[in-house]
Amino acid sequence: MIPWEAAWSAALYGPQGFYRRPEGPVGHFRTASHAAAPILAAALTRLAAELAAGAVVDIGAGRGELLNALASTRTTAHSAPDATPPVLHGVDVVERPPGLAPTVGWTEGLDRLDPAALAGALVVVWEVLDVVPCPVVERAEDGELRIVLVDEQGTEALGTAAAAGERTWCERWWPLPDPGDRAEVGRPRDLWWSELVQQALGAGAVALLAVDYAHVAGQRPPGGSLAAYRGGRRVPPMPDGDCDLTAHVALDSVAHAGEAAGARTLEFTDQRTALRRLGLRGKATAGEPVTAASLQRISAEAELIDPGGLGGFGWLLQGPHGGN
Ligand SMILES: C[S@@+](CC[C@H](N)C(=O)[O-])C[C@H]1O[C@@H](n2cnc3c(N)ncnc32)[C@H](O)[C@@H]1O
Repeated sequence: MIPWEAAWSAALYGPQGFYRRPEGPVGHFRTASHAAAPILAAALTRLAAELAAGAVVDIGAGRGELLNALASTRTTAHSAPDATPPVLHGVDVVERPPGLAPTVGWTEGLDRLDPAALAGALVVVWEVLDVVPCPVVERAEDGELRIVLVDEQGTEALGTAAAAGERTWCERWWPLPDPGDRAEVGRPRDLWWSELVQQALGAGAVALLAVDYAHVAGQRPPGGSLAAYRGGRRVPPMPDGDCDLTAHVALDSVAHAGEAAGARTLEFTDQRTALRRLGLRGKATAGEPVTAASLQRISAEAELIDPGGLGGFGWLLQGPHGGN
């Protein structure tokens, strides 16, 4: 048995990892980008225009679903018709997807991203932090906070005492007072985000947006939220490389890490509030004729802002000090 963090990492990003499969995330579950890419793309184009972003860089872009929608939206939805549409660029752990629009740039691996691609960019990180593996810890009967170990079938056991960094994170962000209390330690996500903030702001990005399943202090999921999905169905978590492994994000901790890395929080809200501010209503506008296209748009908007579903996602926008 090995710690969950290592098992999770190998299962998703190892040589045979889940996210290296040719079908991509869309083959297994439905994100907002799959559910309503054109609507989301139009809203993001509006946000990019508000921030005067000359580029949109999608980190963890899957197979480019959102970027393709942005590529077809940008000529129609950019708020100033004579403004230059943003340059588009995607990054993921795989090579350039075959169906990506030719105008969209692509980098395999975040460490290989040219800083020039980030200059003036809105950096989008959509449903990525929840798949950044992290340690799973549990308060044992002896009162010690212990690392949870797992085998390939998902059988678990308690291992060694958690290291100081994990204990400190839990004390600050997710206290676990009682035996059996359990959490995913968000420290690797905080680190991942703070490195991205430094990389992006250092290269002149105008903002970074993280959107994800999220929780904040006082609303942590009891027992954690580690979950697995295979072929669209929820299955018991097992790090076999055949299913997605995800846990909701402690987004308040991520926001704090971004600020410590030099960013200013521009917006920290839920997706419903953010998308409504960007013009989504989920209903017909006064006098709008009812057509198949309008009904489709209304239902896609309603799905994106549904408070019990995608609308409940956390939405964190950070940028440089002294920016917009
Ligand atoms: C849940 S999927 C979301 C895909 C897409 N953003 C969407 O919303 O449909 C997470 C994606 O993040 C990618 N990812 C995770 N860690 C990454 C990293 N360090 N660099 C680049 N991509 C990463 C995964 O390979 C996967 O394609």
